[in-house]
Amino acid sequence: MTSVFRPAVDLMAGYTPGEQPQETGWVKLNTNENPYPPSPEVVKAIQHAAIGRLNVYPDPHAITFKREAAALFGLSTDWILPANGSDENLTIITRSFCDSGQLIGYPYPSYVLYESLAQIQGCGVRRLRLNADWQWDPAEAAELRKLVRVFYVPNPNSPTGNLWSRDQLLQLLPDQGVLILDEAYGDFSDQPHRGELLRDPAFDGRLIVTRTFSKSYSLAGIRFGFAMAHPKLIEGMQKVKDSYNCDAVSIAAATAALKDQNWMLTNRNQIMKTRSHLSHALSNLGFNVAPSQANFVWVTHPSAQHRQLYEQLKSRKILVRYMKFDGRTSDAPPIDGLRITIGTDTEIQTLLDAIPLCLQELKGLQELKGASV
Ligand SMILES: Cc1ncc(COP(=O)(O)O)c(C=O)c1O
Repeated sequence: MTSVFRPAVDLMAGYTPGEQPQETGWVKLNTNENPYPPSPEVVKAIQHAAIGRLNVYPDPHAITFKREAAALFGLSTDWILPANGSDENLTIITRSFCDSGQLIGYPYPSYVLYESLAQIQGCGVRRLRLNADWQWDPAEAAELRKLVRVFYVPNPNSPTGNLWSRDQLLQLLPDQGVLILDEAYGDFSDQPHRGELLRDPAFDGRLIVTRTFSKSYSLAGIRFGFAMAHPKLIEGMQKVKDSYNCDAVSIAAATAALKDQNWMLTNRNQIMKTRSHLSHALSNLGFNVAPSQANFVWVTHPSAQHRQLYEQLKSRKILVRYMKFDGRTSDAPPIDGLRITIGTDTEIQTLLDAIPLCLQELKGLQELKGASV
């Protein structure tokens, strides 16, 4: 049968999300969820919403949530756009600002969903290549900003966990278009901002910050995120979103989560402590660990057996994320490694106990292979 899809959809591979085993018993360190439960206030709010008025549509503007978010970031409510996860806001942004045939830009390696969103929309993609220290060449950035309508940049970056400064980010503001700071991991950095960047005139009112409840607020299961930008941008994006993009239960949960800052900050501080412990321990085991400002670390090992190590860990019911990216030039080898989410101290100890055994086993297999040649 000949395809009935738009050619752009036929041509794309589609984004592959991380593995989500549905049975228990896994040490799950692969998709950057929070290992701690959400605030008890969130559970109460969900129960309240669920026995409430589920027969009627939710507030299309989620105004109770907007008030909380605006207060936290020192903005007014017309600066806030709630969405069904950060990913929905990224979709809304791509559809709002980049016509088919126009270009989006993003640092590479980073969150490859940006590329899938561009493909769905029929847009082109320009990657801003990162060097071995995960930095871009300012001259290359200066060329790209002339071309793209939307520049996506995760800050801190994923999978590397590094944070870019205000002055570096300014290098990416498109001449004609918007800069998107994807702050999915923003709360795990040393000094999370409280809206200063949005008020900074250097960004010319063309900066959009996206935030999620999936990570620092322990709510990946409910799907909620929000964008912050100048009201002129929010007003236009509102035309593109589904009328009722956030359901009543998730609005109630996110609002309660935002109100309980102490809960989020306590978990975030614990995760930062565990991150430091894990980074040191992995360095001692011979790994190269990128300094991280997020709730994960990116590691490589001199043996370069990253896929095999991922598989060895998986066979012990420990799930980390094996990632492979194109090389820095067309003839360079691919870049690969493991991205490990910061779990509880117990989960991290299970991982740290398993790694030497896995490495030993891999070494044994390697020697066996060598002997049989
Ligand atoms: C950089 C980045 N942005 C956005 C998201 C998606 O967030 P959400 O769960 O709110 O859709 C992720 C999820 O892992 C991410 O890594």
